[in-house]
Amino acid sequence: MDTSGTMIPRVFRGKMLHWLQRHAPFISVALHKRRFLSTLTILVCISLGILFMQTLDKNVYDLAKLPLDGLRTDSEPSPPSIDAAHDLRQLYKKFHFDTAFEYPTSYELQKDLLTIPFGPRKGQKVKSVDQLQFYDSDPRLVWSVLADHLVEEASSATPLPFSWYDWADFHDYNKLIPARESLQDCNFFFGVHFNASLLMQIEHETGEELFGIDRGYYNTEGDPKFSESEITEMIQRANSSCVIDSHSFAESKRSGLSHAFSVGFVVQSLQDQVRPEVYRLQARNHLLNTLSIPLSLTILNRDSGAWQIPIKQDDRQNMVQSGMIQKYLKRASKDSSKRFEFDYVSEFDRFCKSDASKSLNLKILGLQEEKDKAFNGLFTHLQENDFEFDALAKIEELSARTESLSAHESSYLNSLLFSTQTHFAFAPKYFHEPGGLKDFQQLGRHHDARFFNGAIFRDPKETLLRLNSMVITFQKFLKANHLSCWLAHGSLFGYLYNGLNFPWDNDFDVQMPIGHLHILALNFNQSLVVEDPREGNGRFLLDVGSSITHRTQGNGNNNIDARFIDVDSGLYIDITALSVSSAMLSTHDAVYFQQNKDSVGTEVKHRDPNLIANVTDTPLQILYNKLQNDTTYSDQERRDVQGLVEKFNKDFPSNQSPTKFYSAEQRYSINHELGLYNCRNHHFVQYDMVSKLVATKFHGVSALVPNKYITLLKREYRAPMKFNAVTFQSRTFIEGLRSWIQGPLLRKLMNVAGRSENLERVKSPANNLLSIDVDILLKNCARSNSIDFLSYVHNSKEISTYRRKEIELQFSEIYSIEEKQFLLQKLDANIGPRLKPIMEDPRINDLRKRMWHELSSDPELNDEILMELNLEVADDTIAWNSLLDGGALPFLVGVEEREQARENYDFNLRPLAINPSNVFIRDPTF
Ligand SMILES: *[C@@H]1O[C@H](CO)[C@@H](O)[C@H](O)[C@H]1NC(C)=O
Ligand SMILES: *[C@@H]1O[C@H](CO)[C@@H](O)[C@H](O)[C@H]1NC(C)=O
Ligand SMILES: *[C@@H]1O[C@H](CO)[C@@H](O)[C@H](O)[C@H]1NC(C)=O
Ligand SMILES: *[C@@H]1O[C@H](CO)[C@@H](O)[C@H](O)[C@H]1NC(C)=O
Ligand SMILES: *[C@@H]1O[C@H](CO)[C@@H](O)[C@H](O)[C@H]1NC(C)=O
Repeated sequence: MDTSGTMIPRVFRGKMLHWLQRHAPFISVALHKRRFLSTLTILVCISLGILFMQTLDKNVYDLAKLPLDGLRTDSEPSPPSIDAAHDLRQLYKKFHFDTAFEYPTSYELQKDLLTIPFGPRKGQKVKSVDQLQFYDSDPRLVWSVLADHLVEEASSATPLPFSWYDWADFHDYNKLIPARESLQDCNFFFGVHFNASLLMQIEHETGEELFGIDRGYYNTEGDPKFSESEITEMIQRANSSCVIDSHSFAESKRSGLSHAFSVGFVVQSLQDQVRPEVYRLQARNHLLNTLSIPLSLTILNRDSGAWQIPIKQDDRQNMVQSGMIQKYLKRASKDSSKRFEFDYVSEFDRFCKSDASKSLNLKILGLQEEKDKAFNGLFTHLQENDFEFDALAKIEELSARTESLSAHESSYLNSLLFSTQTHFAFAPKYFHEPGGLKDFQQLGRHHDARFFNGAIFRDPKETLLRLNSMVITFQKFLKANHLSCWLAHGSLFGYLYNGLNFPWDNDFDVQMPIGHLHILALNFNQSLVVEDPREGNGRFLLDVGSSITHRTQGNGNNNIDARFIDVDSGLYIDITALSVSSAMLSTHDAVYFQQNKDSVGTEVKHRDPNLIANVTDTPLQILYNKLQNDTTYSDQERRDVQGLVEKFNKDFPSNQSPTKFYSAEQRYSINHELGLYNCRNHHFVQYDMVSKLVATKFHGVSALVPNKYITLLKREYRAPMKFNAVTFQSRTFIEGLRSWIQGPLLRKLMNVAGRSENLERVKSPANNLLSIDVDILLKNCARSNSIDFLSYVHNSKEISTYRRKEIELQFSEIYSIEEKQFLLQKLDANIGPRLKPIMEDPRINDLRKRMWHELSSDPELNDEILMELNLEVADDTIAWNSLLDGGALPFLVGVEEREQARENYDFNLRPLAINPSNVFIRDPTF
């Protein structure tokens, strides 16, 4: 078998493995030949390197078309044939250009759940669910079983049995279970890299690769070897963090199966001084066995409400262990000889109509009054007192309650007690990121340590899908629960141009008033928030820090108040609250302060309600002195305080703050009087910059932005405030595409020097592209197979067009305020609901990707056909643009059915001239 010179792209691994598995005798021979695997991995490594260098421009089908002939044997059956080339074309288009939430196949009892997917018994069927040693918790399985359980068994008071196993991705981790005999100790999870021979052994037993990304590392020059010190460190790490899974013995008794759902070891604490692929499995083990389980499950009802179900805290049982699947099947699949499909949609509908649905319907504590509810109409007005919170009063109120507190309430109460009694100097760091990961260029910082699930940033498409799923679920969560929270920092900046995050940004930032952070904490801290299963598969942990009553930077450990964390990747949305505090004003506010300081005075009129005298109000220097002779404090605490004092003294002389010479009490009072609120990283906003908040769309779903968003952005960024030919962080915004593009890709698509023969040349300069040039860019995109960019532009054209219209209205100088408000409301009501998802659900994409890889070698699909299909899509977008320019885009015509009449709202009819080069020089007016 000659593989030399053949490059096997990573995107092809799925296909290849699948193919290898169909040739079991061949594979076992091949796997004994180390050389085979080595070559394979080197090749994968090379192509991975290439993939990593390309970002948005990753070209899936181009790579997928590379021949596999070198690997085929004579006896190979012909690839699965699809008679109609038409179907294949449809699949291709679906895969890249259709974002509908639609599973490509069914999920069935025999075919899926009961068929062993890997390991020595691969392909065999177990007789019943009780005999499963592991399963892939497909959302269709989980939702069918859960919906039925809620209808049949749950009154609102019954806590739900829960295991992370059913709610997070354990696909690769499961492969360790059939290979468990090889895992003699826990060292495998704690080496700086994997023990390569053990990895080989495990993969041999499983018949599958244990992980995809970065495999090349294991076969560069022979295997990576451990040095003596690396072995010592590995053993120490494993020894201090890992124990034998004693629980699994009891579990074997229950099921009569040896080691169901267990690899034999339990990781009790995380150690990140290892490579991402090692840390990933360590963290999954920790998640499954050690990490506390959520307090509740919050299920979104689209974006208009939610259900909340308390979770049973004393043990962790997946749906087999708790018997939920068995009970469901008993009820739903009476005839076990029949094919049984998990039809989660009808089960979920049944739940929606049930009594259980009514009793589990969530009522938000703390948001009784209509005026406090966000997302009611075009504007959300905040109150000044939303920006101050009296936690001591809240503690009293909750402590005095005679009826027992819910799990959320008592967790919140404990947190407030802890926070108010802890001096800011000692507030422990709450959120942890695996910053120590090896060979990961500091990218660990963008992940929550607990939910890290591999080096996702090495797959840009997957990253975009995950981030999109996260932000749309979060926004739907906010609206469903009427929480006041708005886009901030980079997310607001990205929104400005096309209603989307910057595609190269790897998180989101939002802000909310401190009062609403408390509402969030009380109702949702430690809740697993899941997207409506009819719309997507997003699952996120809402987690609020333990020191939210401190509102200055303090010891610098806790700038972020809360996070919305993707449990399948560890990526997150940073949530920060704004509050009155004693922080020193920033220089941005110097002028405003000077203008108003006389009327405000220095008298202390307002005090921080959260400080306890002589406990948490002690200034640093005094605390430092007090600590010197106080043996109740540890040496570490003394050192920490000393460090803070030194830092303060060092920074003070160069500090430009206009309020640096005031006392903390005076500053609190001044900030209060001036309506200047800050987050713990000391970004200030003025009350009327944020209130009122304006309803808009972000990533195709409802969102809020501050009304003076231009002012806020100008305080933070230096980028020019215009709408055309903007370049930011080496990407250019192309007005005609309503998208950002990377420099190298733009140069390639413009083909100025005519280097690519099959591409047209763009003659205009990049900063002045005409619509005909934009058409050429799109066609070149199709011809050069820049498929990710093409699909990004195509799939986001609705939201970017929507934002375009909104800009025209918001910044118009023709309409009166009343007319603008009226039109913006109509835009939201008539066009807003038409926005389709801009990206696929990650899980659906995964399933389609697997299908596509199985079929893409079909000879019917040659490069020419694919290019033709791409060009159809490019033409689609070109037609869209030309209708938009010509004022005849059907998407923009809204029809409102009234009792008597139909009213048309044609937003085409209002091609409001905006001047792209200065439209953003001032705030919009409403
Ligand atoms: C690596 O794994 C092999 C096979 O299980 C084992 O014999 C060897 O001792 C391991 N090496 C280290 C350093 O743990
Ligand atoms: C593991 O830790 C224990 C103490 O917790 C110690 O007694 C033992 O020597 C350690 N073993 C190794 C191999 O480091
Ligand atoms: C949120 O929950 C965590 C975990 O129980 C707890 O440590 C933290 O203090 C809670 N935060 C709030 C504000 O309730
Ligand atoms: C706080 O301490 C000061 C002196 O250190 C003392 O005079 C004052 O009474 C104390 N206040 C309270 C409320 O304990
Ligand atoms: C600590 O105690 C020593 C003697 O025991 C004394 O000299 C010193 O002044 C004390 N320091 C403070 C800050 O109270």
